[in-house]
Amino acid sequence: MKKFSLLLLTLWSPALFAQFTPGEIWPDNNGRHINAHGGGILYRNGTYYWYGEIKGTHSTAEVGVSVYSSKDLYSWKDEGVALQVSGDPASEITKGCVIERPKVIYNTKTKKYVMWFHLELKGQGYNAARTALAVSDSPTGPFEYQKSLRPNPGIWPQNFREEWKKPVPGEDTLKWWTPGWYKAVKEGLFVRRDLKGGQMARDMTLYVDDDGTAYHIYSAEDNLTLNIAELSSDYQRFTGKYITLAPAGHNEAPAVFKQDGWYYLITSGCTGWDPNAARSFRARSVLGPWEALKNPCVGEGAGLTFHSQSTFILPVAGKKNAFIFMADRWKPRNHIDGRYIWLPVKVVNGQPVIEWKDKWDLSVFD
Ligand code: GAL
Repeated sequence: MKKFSLLLLTLWSPALFAQFTPGEIWPDNNGRHINAHGGGILYRNGTYYWYGEIKGTHSTAEVGVSVYSSKDLYSWKDEGVALQVSGDPASEITKGCVIERPKVIYNTKTKKYVMWFHLELKGQGYNAARTALAVSDSPTGPFEYQKSLRPNPGIWPQNFREEWKKPVPGEDTLKWWTPGWYKAVKEGLFVRRDLKGGQMARDMTLYVDDDGTAYHIYSAEDNLTLNIAELSSDYQRFTGKYITLAPAGHNEAPAVFKQDGWYYLITSGCTGWDPNAARSFRARSVLGPWEALKNPCVGEGAGLTFHSQSTFILPVAGKKNAFIFMADRWKPRNHIDGRYIWLPVKVVNGQPVIEWKDKWDLSVFD
């Protein structure tokens, strides 16, 4: 008996029994389902920090952005509210606004933790289409709200043709979703429309390249076109350098990773909280050109991304070519019950591939 319990004790470690169970309730250290939707992860000094939308029944921001910490990726400690909504009705992040897809990166020069997120102003539906900035000295916050904006006003994308810079007579009256309208969107209709005030910015992610340059990737042009925009060296401004990706392609929920000199991007189509088939792209440089690949999901459920939508791709620290595809299984009738779909993503002949697993652990990467 004594020998047996000793054996158990030696064998026991949280990581040993830990596993990912996509789509199930995921309790934190307090036994509560993790509340970090549309999230992203920052790895720093041996700790993972998971930031996400704190949801209640509804999708509006009543509390703010959460942060959880973990050493092993299986067990997560609730570190509280990283960014709190404001009680001031005049604030852009007043309670009841929309805060989505927060992402945090660390700036080694300023030593600041920099959070960008998608902000919709209270009571305006999804019309504001702005990206917003908050910064902190600590990974767990409190993050201080700075500003919101539409990126790059008055600046053309780098990959925009000269002949597209002039309006085409009658373009404002084109009927939406007709072939002529699609063609016009591909040829910059909405870039021209939004040039003065800056491009719309909804679903988003951040990506820090090997040289420390950070990029903000967001759905612009009424979600029809993705923009990839360079951030300044302190990560708190847009430099004006940006490209359009898949114009009129309707991509949302961008998530990026890099393997063997290729940048891979996984996105979703645009069907609100309902799932659709994921897409993928690859490029040799973040600013393109990007080549469209296939749906990265394979097997049963692949047509609806296993009933989820991408949010982030996490490189596992200390393991080569080990990436976790993170996605949300939204529950629009009761958002707090939204589930997390984490699955390994591997590259097979230049194509990201994701397969469903009921249960798995990090040993798949060994
Ligand atoms: C989704 C988007 C979410 C949220 C939702 C609102 O397509 O990815 O972040 O904006 O629409 O309906």
